[in-house]
Amino acid sequence: MRGELSVFSDLDEAARALAERVVRAADDAVARSGRFTLAISGGKTPEPLFGLLGGPWAKRMPWTRTELFWVDERAVGPDDPESNYGGARASLLAEHPLRPEQVHRISGETPDPESAAKAYELELRSFFADTVPPVPFTFDLVLLGIGPDGHTASLFPGSPVLEERIAWVRAVPTPVVIPRVPRITLTLPAINAAHEAAFLVGGADKAPALRSILSNPDARETSLPAARVQPRDRLEWFVDRAAAGGMRPTR
Ligand code: 6PG
Repeated sequence: MRGELSVFSDLDEAARALAERVVRAADDAVARSGRFTLAISGGKTPEPLFGLLGGPWAKRMPWTRTELFWVDERAVGPDDPESNYGGARASLLAEHPLRPEQVHRISGETPDPESAAKAYELELRSFFADTVPPVPFTFDLVLLGIGPDGHTASLFPGSPVLEERIAWVRAVPTPVVIPRVPRITLTLPAINAAHEAAFLVGGADKAPALRSILSNPDARETSLPAARVQPRDRLEWFVDRAAAGGMRPTR
């Protein structure tokens, strides 16, 4: 089993448990270093989580000490319904806007995704400059989802970007999954240099990929990108019963 698996009756319950986890990780990080660096994903699954952390639970979060980053972005403008930044702005950031310097978004509207990737790479390298060699650390916590094909972030099966060893950010050509627009994504070196990562997964359509990822002890034996996520300190899976497909929780 790769990481710790928790199974909940539905996605709302999983989102509540993950919200608790985010608040705890935030408090620990602020106590340790005075700030909390969080990278978030797009897609539909995190909507209930963002609704909680941005709404009823906002007071529990050390938002003034939080630096917010994105795992990936679609090549669209911030007001496009497919924008990952736009989605978070409408939920996570709706009631307590952060100072602009706390919001590290990927520029989906830059006409050339390669340039947007380079700009984000520079921003991350400069932000995390104090943690770079000998042991590079990036985020305190990365929140991830998976697709039914086992992709995570915008790291798709068979993509050469999966083999990236150096760059933290790469542009990705239009994938076969919707929305069919180019992406800009964190790479495995950036994600795996995080302290912790947590996946939120819901729905029976993701059960086969999830089973294959979790039951394969060696990431090299599966071609599923999400199986290659291995942060430095802790990996957790918050999963609803439909996605778990009968797999037993490990805690
Ligand atoms: C994105 C994501 C992506 C997402 C999965 C799951 O921008 O699309 O970051 O990796 O997490 O595709 O998406 P759903 O939650 O919509 O199923």
